[in-house]
Amino acid sequence: MSKIDCLICHDRTGSYKKAPPKAGMPDPKVDLVYVAQNVGQPTRKNCGYCHFSGGGGDAVKHADLNSALFWPKRTCDVHMGGYGFECIDCHRTRQHKISGRSMSAPVAEGGFSCEDCHSKNPHYGNNLLDHHLNKHCETIACNTCHSPVYSKCVPTKVWWDWSTAGNKKRGVEKGKYGKPVYHFKKGSFRWKESAKPEYAWFNGYVKRMFFGDKIDPRAKGFTDNDNLTFEQKQKLVFTNIIQPVGSINDPNSKITPFKVMRGIQGADAEYRYLLVPHLFPYNKEDKTAYWKSFDWHKSFAEGMKKAGLKYSGKYIWVGTKMYWRIEHEVMPKEFALSCVQCHESLKGERTCDRCHQDNRNVDFKKLAFKGTDFKYMHMQGRDVKDLIGQTDYINFKALGYKGDPIIYGGRFKKLPLGYKK
Ligand code: HEC
Ligand code: HEC
Ligand code: HEC
Ligand code: HEC
Ligand code: HEC
Ligand code: HEC
Ligand code: HEC
Repeated sequence: MSKIDCLICHDRTGSYKKAPPKAGMPDPKVDLVYVAQNVGQPTRKNCGYCHFSGGGGDAVKHADLNSALFWPKRTCDVHMGGYGFECIDCHRTRQHKISGRSMSAPVAEGGFSCEDCHSKNPHYGNNLLDHHLNKHCETIACNTCHSPVYSKCVPTKVWWDWSTAGNKKRGVEKGKYGKPVYHFKKGSFRWKESAKPEYAWFNGYVKRMFFGDKIDPRAKGFTDNDNLTFEQKQKLVFTNIIQPVGSINDPNSKITPFKVMRGIQGADAEYRYLLVPHLFPYNKEDKTAYWKSFDWHKSFAEGMKKAGLKYSGKYIWVGTKMYWRIEHEVMPKEFALSCVQCHESLKGERTCDRCHQDNRNVDFKKLAFKGTDFKYMHMQGRDVKDLIGQTDYINFKALGYKGDPIIYGGRFKKLPLGYKK
């Protein structure tokens, strides 16, 4: 906190801002007296000034922290849009330490969770689904059901391929969301709005790669002469830069939703670590910067000299990926996943009555299907056509189950019932 100035968090006028080339100093046009007379508790605007553009632009890095949260709709984020939460209503401070841990940095200021407010049994009342929903909380993180898609209102970058940079003739090209899909300085991008998360077991620990660590030993990479297509690049071995720790056999692990950011970056062909490019020229004379020379060799040589690690003089392009947990953009409760969206086995004629006695007063089918309606979301303009009618939403086999747990049993036990398959 010592390196952040006070007003960026405490200004309530909205006029305080930084001047990008001034290394964090305020813009000289700001009326500092006016700002100083109007300080107050930080709002979403203060925190969002930095956090909505992590990675160099709106929603580039954190899919679930983006400019839609300045004035969110209820459907974008039920806490901030529906109930008027500020960031600090959840990220409470103790002695000026803002709680909340990230995937990329170690927990310095204390973590917190949904359960701190909602308890371990958040579903209450006399709803017939509550029993099973609460039981699922032992195995499934809240947002797996409550954030079935992320980046609902602003598209996020999901793919960044540096290897294609350098084609000045192509310049800048825009894609379907009006976002750049090619930039001669930075390569190719892909964006996604209302994206389905990827799911992994997570126990709260994170494995991070440090600068100088070796890339995945199986990664072969490719060179500039290989001319791989996008599809071929998807089949590469991707090195995990940030990765959740967890397993189906660990009772502390839960199935957790992530945005996985994939990309292609330069690596040293001999030393097999990632390379740091030198991009922005120091001055007019500097010919080593990539954005001046468009020569990766020069750029890597200078970048690595600055970083203090050897460069062998040979580079390859390799796939990398990073996992960012989905924490924000919780949807209203009626958008949570339904039983059927996960359990294929409940799709047919028999739903709850596979195990429970039929009851004339209860519509089992309706209960099993109660949840998010992607058809409706699609009609509202969201990019979710491919999710309509999906079952096995989280892919049980990929998570280590034999198949639908209603048929094959849970991770530690099988229900003592004779199933009617
Ligand atoms: C990263 C954002 C951030 C920065 C930077 C920041 N603050 Fe705060 N500050 C907060 C938050 C959050 C609170 C708690 C507000 C609440 O819940 O009441 C707070 C509370 C305060 C309070 C109220 C008393 C207290 O401790 O609860 C004072 C006074 C204060 N800050 C002064 C400062 C000063 C002076 C600086 C610069 C040295 C500064 N702040 C920098 C976020 C920030
Ligand atoms: C001047 C820019 C700036 C402002 C304003 C700011 N932050 Fe941050 N914040 C950062 C940076 C930089 C990091 C570390 C980057 C990372 O881990 O991705 C960070 C990290 C965090 C983390 C993760 C901390 C950890 O230990 O893992 C949380 C939570 C957070 N900020 C919340 C807030 C909240 C809430 C506010 C508003 C009260 C706020 N920030 C205001 C720049 C800022
Ligand atoms: C409804 C509660 C809630 C609100 C409101 C909220 N957050 Fe969070 N946020 C969380 C939770 C839960 C985590 C995970 C905390 C942990 O594991 O310790 C988190 C994590 C974070 C992180 C770290 C994420 C990462 O992977 O790097 C940042 C940064 C952050 N929040 C910023 C913000 C900002 C900025 C706002 C306001 C625009 C905000 N949060 C509003 C619940 C909330
Ligand atoms: C297996 C999916 C699933 C999981 C896991 C889950 N929820 Fe829910 N949640 C739902 C559904 C579905 C509803 C809507 C129930 C209804 O309206 O009948 C709901 C409703 C709610 C409500 C509204 C109150 C209520 O009882 O209707 C809250 C609050 C809530 N969930 C919080 C959480 C929290 C916090 C967690 C994590 C500790 C969590 N949920 C985990 C599916 C889930
Ligand atoms: C600081 C406390 C706090 C935290 C942290 C928090 N919530 Fe909430 N949440 C609330 C309050 C207050 C409400 C509104 C009243 C209610 O429904 O209990 C609410 C409402 C909800 C609802 C019902 C929304 C509706 O349709 O009305 C869901 C679902 C929910 N929260 C899920 C979550 C999830 C998932 C997390 C973690 C990412 C989380 N909450 C973190 C306080 C919190
Ligand atoms: C996000 C996906 C998801 C949703 C939504 C979901 N389930 Fe499950 N369900 C699971 C997983 C994962 C398990 C295995 C848990 C374990 O390993 O113990 C499971 C296990 C079960 C089991 C058998 C094991 C047991 O311990 O009870 C029943 C019964 C069940 N679910 C019913 C339901 C019902 C009813 C609903 C709707 C209220 C529902 N599920 C919604 C993922 C889901
Ligand atoms: C695969 C079998 C299975 C399916 C399918 C199933 N349940 Fe259950 N349910 C159980 C078992 C077993 C229990 C007893 C407690 C436990 O072990 O979870 C239970 C308990 C309950 C309870 C609590 C009863 C009590 O006496 O406390 C309710 C309510 C319930 N189920 C409703 C439903 C609804 C509604 C559905 C369909 C949406 C459903 N169940 C689907 C196996 C199932």
